[in-house]
Amino acid sequence: MTAHILDGNALAQRMRAELAEKAAALAATQGVTPCLAVILVGEDPASQVYVRNKVAACEKAGFASLKFTYAADVEPAVVLAQIAALNADPRVHGILVQLPLPRHFDAEAVLAAISPEKDVDGFHAENVGALVQGQPRFIPCTPFGVMKMLAETGLDLRGAEAVIVGRSNIVGKPMALLLLQQDCTVTVCHSRTRDLAAHTRRADVLVAAVGKPKMITAEMVKPGAIVIDVGINRLADGKLCGDVDFDAVKEVAGWITPVPGGVGPMTITMLLANTLLAAERTLP
Ligand code: GUN
Repeated sequence: MTAHILDGNALAQRMRAELAEKAAALAATQGVTPCLAVILVGEDPASQVYVRNKVAACEKAGFASLKFTYAADVEPAVVLAQIAALNADPRVHGILVQLPLPRHFDAEAVLAAISPEKDVDGFHAENVGALVQGQPRFIPCTPFGVMKMLAETGLDLRGAEAVIVGRSNIVGKPMALLLLQQDCTVTVCHSRTRDLAAHTRRADVLVAAVGKPKMITAEMVKPGAIVIDVGINRLADGKLCGDVDFDAVKEVAGWITPVPGGVGPMTITMLLANTLLAAERTLP
């Protein structure tokens, strides 16, 4: 058996066209253009690429964007002052600080400084709390994108065994909450989990978000499972690969996301969706 491929590029393209239409309608009827402000501190090459892609996606969808870049040794107070200015600027609907921040930053304090109404990443403690309570204001973009991909399978997830490998604030933890909201039975595995394969082999839905190339092998996957690969790893030869051994696992799984072209394009799509939502919520 070969798995169905969940094509993130195709879904992202479809959704971004719809978002562009909605943004154009908002501008035409209300005079409001959704605007995202992105803050990048330091020169991490991967972060530079992500930020460039986020700004380009805004432009392509007819959203406005503002980009603020700082040297790695900038005083945190400078960044906090910029966030305060963006919080107060009614033209700005979404604010995103690219992570990770340099070590001399208190990342929690920076995220806490963003107005919860403009926190399109959904990382502010108030928004995390709302998600925990099942009343999300903004759903974090990567797990939000994964839920859209799962919906594409048309499968009923109620009662399904969902296993997440990775417990980050950005992916693993919000992913667990969203799958719980869909009535899955959720297990979160991590670096201290004993016998990881015993857990993953039970999974009807397996989400890998670890950052270790090809760590999920075919023997770790239940036949017919939905396998979602959130990992983006660069190999020595320069090629990108996920946390899942795609070529082997696609022979076992029922559904699988490729890397690249799977979850990645969906993350930025959901950032646009959250920015549009933030803009719509400012309407009287
Ligand atoms: N770094 C890795 N993923 C993300 C994300 O979704 N948002 C932000 N702000 N930084 C990230």
